Amino acid sequence: MFSFSWFLLVASLYTSITSACPEPQKITLQSRVAPHGQANSLKRRQISPTNVPLADFFKGTDLQWFGNISVGTPPQEISVVFDTGSSSLEFASTLCNSCTNPVPKFDSSKSSTFVDGGRTSSISFATGVGVDPVINNDYVLRLRSGTDTVTVGGLTSRNVALNLITDQTPAFNIDPFSGIQGMGARAQGFFASLINQGLPALFGMFLTPNSIGNAELTIGGIDESKFDGDLVFAPQAGTGATWELRSPGISVNGRTTSLLNTRRTIIFDSGTSNVLFSTDTAEAIYALISPDIKPNSAEPGTYGIACSRIPSLPAKIDIAFTDVNGRAFNLTIPSSELSVGPFANNPSLCQTLINAFDGLELVGGSLLKHYYSVWDVGNQRMGFAPI
Ligand SMILES: *[C@@H]1O[C@H](CO)[C@@H](O)[C@H](O)[C@H]1NC(C)=O
Ligand SMILES: *[C@@H]1O[C@H](CO)[C@@H](O)[C@H](O)[C@H]1NC(C)=O
Repeated sequence: MFSFSWFLLVASLYTSITSACPEPQKITLQSRVAPHGQANSLKRRQISPTNVPLADFFKGTDLQWFGNISVGTPPQEISVVFDTGSSSLEFASTLCNSCTNPVPKFDSSKSSTFVDGGRTSSISFATGVGVDPVINNDYVLRLRSGTDTVTVGGLTSRNVALNLITDQTPAFNIDPFSGIQGMGARAQGFFASLINQGLPALFGMFLTPNSIGNAELTIGGIDESKFDGDLVFAPQAGTGATWELRSPGISVNGRTTSLLNTRRTIIFDSGTSNVLFSTDTAEAIYALISPDIKPNSAEPGTYGIACSRIPSLPAKIDIAFTDVNGRAFNLTIPSSELSVGPFANNPSLCQTLINAFDGLELVGGSLLKHYYSVWDVGNQRMGFAPI
């Protein structure tokens, strides 16, 4: 098993952009989508929301999704992970000799609108799942800044700040996508530009497993055709670019402990495959699932149990939150997410979904794929509806 997370460890520059608070609207853009609601009552039609189809991550991990954008004039199509755990746009370029993954690379010399910014930097990403240790220096990108026209879901922004990847560490070379589009809680880049042009300041994510398909990002709106029932909204706990909610406690299979029933702040990261909790929280959760889930010292930060044991283990994790009206609700990771799959060097040992990581607590694809999620930048809140 191998997959990545794009939770940004070393943040690059954030510029926060304030925008008018636009009204959300729901507009049909693709034939299979039939949102309804406030769109018709809008007096001033701004930019319509748009859908970007997402492909599932490879190897059946069902925990990460990516879609196409285009950059430059004439447009060059590349694919990116839409990552709520970071805020900038970076993608493979023809300047990168170490980018050997077979994905489209952007050739800035062929774009008449590309402007070289000349600023070089490097960023590191953490990994959240698979047989990688949680913290290492395996995921480092070297970047060169620039600006160019960027089109996402048919909506075009000019002079968007971006970064060309000029060098990458080998761990990136199995990526089936060209780069990462940060979707942090302070709109950046193309999204900030579209908001300034009148797009509602929110996006919806339908991150489904392969078996369901039709994964989709809706920029500027909510695709109500993707879920039944009501969205529950909770206020953003942070004030920066990180999407995070306060949680009063965690239960496992309906039980909790004093350690688990404690307030914490949990980061929501669409770019991380799995779950990161502090070591004591991870071990308290595992203790309520099975005493036989043990750290795998070959891969620091990871835990595992014999694959044959997994199907019989209940492992329902309810994370409590409080909605904007003060009511409690749970977001639940079902037992089916317990196994991340066999460790590469020990096929009878299956990795379990929580990695220990002291310093932050974070959920990603294994939770998000059970909900339609709304990332409301304008109102600084997040919404969820079960799918
Ligand atoms: C991205 O574009 C390529 C080439 O046009 C296409 O084959 C692929 O299906 C697209 N991916 C998604 C997720 O739309
Ligand atoms: C959340 O889950 C816990 C544990 O299963 C349960 O006791 C509690 O009633 C749930 N809360 C809500 C609001 O459903």
